[in-house]
Amino acid sequence: MKKVVFAGVVAVALAIAQQRSGDFLDRIPPSAAARPNPYEGQRNAPLAGRKLYARHCAECHGREREGHGKAPPLAQPLVRDAAAGTLFRAITDGSLNRGMPSFAAIPEPQRWQIVTFLKGR
Ligand code: HEC
Repeated sequence: MKKVVFAGVVAVALAIAQQRSGDFLDRIPPSAAARPNPYEGQRNAPLAGRKLYARHCAECHGREREGHGKAPPLAQPLVRDAAAGTLFRAITDGSLNRGMPSFAAIPEPQRWQIVTFLKGR
């Protein structure tokens, strides 16, 4: 009996740990990934995106995308290699209960420009 209770406690603890480490991008529905970035390959888009990033995102994620506190670094493969549509959805919806605001108020073209910047080196 004790063993069964112990196994139950371990299972619950593992489930909680997994939920915490399961990152935000993993929780975005795969259907969002299919949306193509209209700015992909446009030379000026990353530059525009960089300015928008400095204005809206750097206060939490850091000027060099290095991350701060709860805000994860964005200059990392997880973000760079994510589908453009996934990043677009992440910016649009945010992750409100974990401290990432929604940026649905930024016009769509500008959100895509930020995505282009995030996917650059
Ligand atoms: C108020 C602070 C704050 C601001 C401003 C902010 N973020 Fe975040 N962001 C967060 C936090 C906190 C998380 C982690 C959310 C989670 O784990 O669910 C996050 C997560 C992310 C992620 C997912 C990264 C990962 O490793 O899962 C991306 C992408 C992202 N933010 C992009 C942006 C962009 C682009 C902007 C500007 C348009 C921005 N964020 C502005 C706090 C912020």
